[in-house]
Amino acid sequence: MVARSFIILSLLAATFLFTFTLARNGPLARIKDSTSTVNGNYTHVCDALRFFELGLNVKDFAYCDTSLPYEVRVKDLIDRMTLYEKVNQIGDTAYGVPRIGLPQYEWWSEALHGVSDVGQWDHKASFFDDDVPGATSFPTVITTAASFNQSLWKRIGQAVSTEARAMHNLGHAGLTFWSPNINVVRDPRWGRALETPGEDPYVVGEYAVNYVRGLQDVEGTENVTDLNSRPLKVAACCKHYAAYDVDNWLGVERYNFDARVTEQDMMETFLKPFEMCVKEGDVTSVMCSYNKINGIPACADPRLLRGKIRGEWDLHGYIVSDCDSIEVMINHQKWLKDEPEDAVAQALKAGLDLDCGNYYTNHARNSVSKGKVSEKDIDVALKNLYIVLMRLGFFDGSPQFEKLDMTNVCSDEHIELATEAAREGIVLLKNDNQTLPLSTDKIKTIAVVGPHANATSVMIGNYAGVPCQFTSPIDGFAKYGKVIYEMGCVDVACKNDSMIFQAVKAAKKADATVVVVGIDLSIEAESLDREDLFLPGYQDRLINLVASQSKGPVAVVIMSAGGVDVSFARDSSKIHSILWAGYPGQEGGQAIADVVFGKYNPGGKLPLTWHENGYVEMLPMTSMPLRPIDHHGYPGRTYKFYNDSRVYHFGYGLSYTNFSYSLVSSTKSLQVQLNKFQHCRELNYTEGSYKPACPAILIDDLQCNDHHNIELNFEIKNVGERDGSEVVIVYWTPPNGIVDAPIKQVVAFKRVFVGVGGSEKVSFVLNGCKSLGVVDYKGYNLMPSGGGNFIIGDNLMKIPVHIDFQH
Ligand SMILES: *[C@@H]1O[C@H](CO)[C@@H](O)[C@H](O)[C@H]1NC(C)=O
Ligand SMILES: *[C@@H]1O[C@H](CO)[C@@H](O)[C@H](O)[C@H]1NC(C)=O
Ligand SMILES: *[C@@H]1O[C@H](CO)[C@@H](O)[C@H](O)[C@H]1NC(C)=O
Ligand SMILES: *[C@@H]1O[C@H](CO)[C@@H](O)[C@H](O)[C@H]1NC(C)=O
Ligand SMILES: *[C@@H]1O[C@H](CO)[C@@H](O)[C@H](O)[C@H]1NC(C)=O
Ligand SMILES: *[C@@H]1O[C@H](CO)[C@@H](O)[C@H](O)[C@H]1NC(C)=O
Ligand SMILES: *[C@@H]1O[C@H](CO)[C@@H](O)[C@H](O)[C@H]1NC(C)=O
Ligand SMILES: *[C@@H]1O[C@H](CO)[C@@H](O)[C@H](O)[C@H]1NC(C)=O
Repeated sequence: MVARSFIILSLLAATFLFTFTLARNGPLARIKDSTSTVNGNYTHVCDALRFFELGLNVKDFAYCDTSLPYEVRVKDLIDRMTLYEKVNQIGDTAYGVPRIGLPQYEWWSEALHGVSDVGQWDHKASFFDDDVPGATSFPTVITTAASFNQSLWKRIGQAVSTEARAMHNLGHAGLTFWSPNINVVRDPRWGRALETPGEDPYVVGEYAVNYVRGLQDVEGTENVTDLNSRPLKVAACCKHYAAYDVDNWLGVERYNFDARVTEQDMMETFLKPFEMCVKEGDVTSVMCSYNKINGIPACADPRLLRGKIRGEWDLHGYIVSDCDSIEVMINHQKWLKDEPEDAVAQALKAGLDLDCGNYYTNHARNSVSKGKVSEKDIDVALKNLYIVLMRLGFFDGSPQFEKLDMTNVCSDEHIELATEAAREGIVLLKNDNQTLPLSTDKIKTIAVVGPHANATSVMIGNYAGVPCQFTSPIDGFAKYGKVIYEMGCVDVACKNDSMIFQAVKAAKKADATVVVVGIDLSIEAESLDREDLFLPGYQDRLINLVASQSKGPVAVVIMSAGGVDVSFARDSSKIHSILWAGYPGQEGGQAIADVVFGKYNPGGKLPLTWHENGYVEMLPMTSMPLRPIDHHGYPGRTYKFYNDSRVYHFGYGLSYTNFSYSLVSSTKSLQVQLNKFQHCRELNYTEGSYKPACPAILIDDLQCNDHHNIELNFEIKNVGERDGSEVVIVYWTPPNGIVDAPIKQVVAFKRVFVGVGGSEKVSFVLNGCKSLGVVDYKGYNLMPSGGGNFIIGDNLMKIPVHIDFQH
């Protein structure tokens, strides 16, 4: 009763407000205003007062009745719309239907490594302005990936979604974020490596699952069984699906690129992270990519969208196109004779729910009236979209997040997390004679030279927002000693050597020299693939000259996403140490200085192979296969199919301490019970190798459960002189002789801290059905007879596992 009289009072007050604003702005302006202020004045759509202001009674709208299931509410909402109104809701700007109280909504926000300024927000507010001057800019994903720390990935997702919710409350961001980017880095030239977790499909998938859960999960409801009503903190999106791998390489653009992909590579490499993202991460969205796959645009392929994502993997959410993908089909790919209605119909029928662009909005009505697609297909898309908004509290509010505000953005805790992430991601590539860490007792002046010595925006890469602040390398080192700063080059292109002399002079004076070099978005970026793997211009010369004249020890710090051919530095006795920092985020300079001076002992590992430049001269970027192609002389791709000469290998990284591993126990064999209908599957074996009678079985036919688990228990000792973190990587190598099988593949990893002189137990429980599979040429996941071996780290241990098929 008390509540009721309060409502009546506020309705009276609202009447006054309503008439006042009507008189001032006219009805249309008012409706537009009230829609945009859902996030400001109103925390949710189904606010009685909001409806009242629109001249409506919320009680008349079943879609606002919280006692009904989401599906029923969403059906009510859709059934109220005309076809024209429906097509207005399936573009990234959903225009709303004021007539029935539905406000406008902008679907496109981004949060790749912090809330970004990329996307589309309100007509009035942008993502950042005086009210929201910045948000925490975490390291780019390639750096964070190098930490190989699943809980860090999730923790960052949680911090980002907290800031995202706070910004949403302030009217500065949506609730649906089109992040993360989980394409596998198949080629070292790819311009978007910085956005991704590297070259291993399993590591990429683990990153996706943890980051997505960090963004999406509402504490305490992670395990709700009805996935159509599971609450969401914000909605994430795994992209770009699939085989999206060429941005712009020697004029071949992603818009025209037709990726010719085998079924084997598709299942094993290109789809795997997406499968994990949907099945294990329960992501609410997948974005399809611009490119064609074997002739069909990804966003118009029913087998890939409706079949795989929604069918096999059971997505609970919506499928969105990359921005203007449908326009690309029509104007670039000339798909379906250039008719917009055909492309729109094809995409809708394929299962594309939301068009980032305006082709759905402008052409879907004609598509329906010409009978190319049915209105029912649009209803299905709308249902997928509105259930996500229901789960986000868009209609009913999310009381637990409504108090978040600017105090939760750029908080000390988040800035420290950004610094910690960079420290964990930095990889020590070389450290002759244990030159690092430097000691403040001996090193009083530090020459910090090179084009990235005062890096700021370089450190946050792309899909960034406005950071809270920057701590550049010179700022970071200034906390440890007197800094002498010289750029050495005017920029990364370093077109001449005119500034090198100044850098050499600095190195001659200082007690130690740190050369901060690398590349940036002018070399590797979206729409820009690399042509070679060298440091640009005179950077090599800068490093060599500085190193040859330096008074003290020399450390080279590299900022890049893809690997750089620094063989010369690796092999030079004048260059004592090399560190890779990726693009380490707003606090990158702090993290680098902390590592160089030993406040933090580095433990990161390379998430991708660092190739020699000669590698990219051996194969075109447009060749998709992962396996070597002997008749073209193409080498294989990624550590799984290429282990020839390289600068540094996948998983490589040093520490200031040493660890020793011992195997405590392991499951020696796995008994796999076959049912009587189960057939043996063929696998080809190389000549001369043993071919078992039953080469393999189809994993999908097994009833996988705990009986298929394999345990590996290790003890990791810190036998050096400093505390440190070790990344334990478990690879599996298939039994010998299987044609086209990977050399090895990551099946598990864990980062563990071990105090000096101490030891830690590290246990892995692997499921044979997940970890012991090879994908055959038809794309089937098979468990081969025999078992193979686990390889621990850089060949530290080889542990056989035996598989017995039992009928
Ligand atoms: C992994 O990340 C978590 C969360 O940030 C952190 O607490 C932990 O110390 C990290 N583990 C290691 C071994 O660095
Ligand atoms: C959800 O399930 C996971 C895995 O079984 C478990 O670790 C976690 O504690 C559960 N969470 C809740 C809130 O029950
Ligand atoms: C470092 O870069 C920042 C941002 O570009 C600039 O404001 C500052 O002046 C630079 N510092 C030096 C010493 O050049
Ligand atoms: C070196 O490059 C800078 C910037 O590109 C330019 O201003 C300068 O004139 C060049 N110097 C020489 C000696 O070419
Ligand atoms: C490492 O130290 C030894 C002994 O001090 C010295 O002979 C050697 O040249 C040093 N190596 C490098 C690469 O500095
Ligand atoms: C490549 O892998 C094979 C099989 O594991 C191994 O025998 C060989 O030594 C590796 N080569 C290099 C250069 O690491
Ligand atoms: C680790 O062990 C190797 C081999 O025993 C030794 O050469 C190296 O100096 C040690 N490194 C550290 C940091 O203790
Ligand atoms: C075995 O290799 C042959 C010749 O390359 C090929 O035709 C056949 O499909 C392969 N079979 C399997 C099971 O991989």
